Amino acid sequence: MNYYYITGTSRGIGKAFAMHLLENPTNFVIGISRNRSIEHPNYRHSYLDLTDVNALVEFKFDLHAKAKKIYLINNAGVLGFIKPVGKLDASTIAKNYTVNLIAPSILTNEFINCYDSTDAEKVILNISSGAGKNPIDGWAVYCASKAGLDMFSRVVDSEQKIRAKTPLESIHKGFHIFSIAPGVVNTNMQEEIRAAHKEDFSRLEDFIGYKVNNQLSEPQLVSKKYINILANIYSIKEVLSSIKDYE
Ligand SMILES: NC(=O)c1ccc[n+]([C@@H]2O[C@H](COP(=O)([O-])OP(=O)(O)OC[C@H]3O[C@@H](n4cnc5c(N)ncnc54)[C@H](OP(=O)(O)O)[C@@H]3O)[C@@H](O)[C@H]2O)c1
Repeated sequence: MNYYYITGTSRGIGKAFAMHLLENPTNFVIGISRNRSIEHPNYRHSYLDLTDVNALVEFKFDLHAKAKKIYLINNAGVLGFIKPVGKLDASTIAKNYTVNLIAPSILTNEFINCYDSTDAEKVILNISSGAGKNPIDGWAVYCASKAGLDMFSRVVDSEQKIRAKTPLESIHKGFHIFSIAPGVVNTNMQEEIRAAHKEDFSRLEDFIGYKVNNQLSEPQLVSKKYINILANIYSIKEVLSSIKDYE
């Protein structure tokens, strides 16, 4: 069996990802979010609030000793507010960093710790964003957290490459990590963006235009592209990329 731990499976990209994977009976999905919207014999849900650091610390992965492949897909993410710095709410800043950066870091650490000696293909996929590479006004915390997620992924990748050169690698398989941006996708997150106030966000009209001009990809199409990319991880050249790089 292949096991997929996916955060944010209640809607959007994470839900579409899980639903596609569940079409294959050799896949088992463990979804992690505050709400559940998937019922399937090969699906288990873990109700977890990713802003709750204490609950995150307690989260445990199952051993899956005979797994062929084990994946962690850090997909859950929040914009939370669209306002310039100076007008932000302090506790929301902390919560947004926790969902977008601290939760993937804690889960990745536990994933690597748990499966270190498991002889399966082990992959961590972080759902990143172009906003982690380019500043967007009103999105400071989101941009910074996605930039942090990219750097976190690069460091884990370099650690795994260093490890690959040690005798340990001849005993157990290492981990692959990728941070891949989805482009602009027709989900709740885009609705939130279009609901921003013009005085807080200079690019409001651009994002309204993406919807009006049908430039948003559907999450079902995006998740299919991710699954195709993951089907051949050796074709992924860089830790950081965008699904557009594979078209
Ligand atoms: N949509 C885009 O255009 C776009 C572009 C670039 C990158 N992305 C990235 O793609 C990923 C998925 O976004 P999306 O567009 O699919 O967003 P979405 O439709 O808003 O879905 C977000 C998911 O994250 C989960 N989540 C949010 N807060 C959580 C919390 N505190 N605890 C647990 N789960 C939580 C939600 O589940 P619950 O509410 O049930 O907890 C939901 O399943 C994000 O990382 C986002 O940054 C999206």
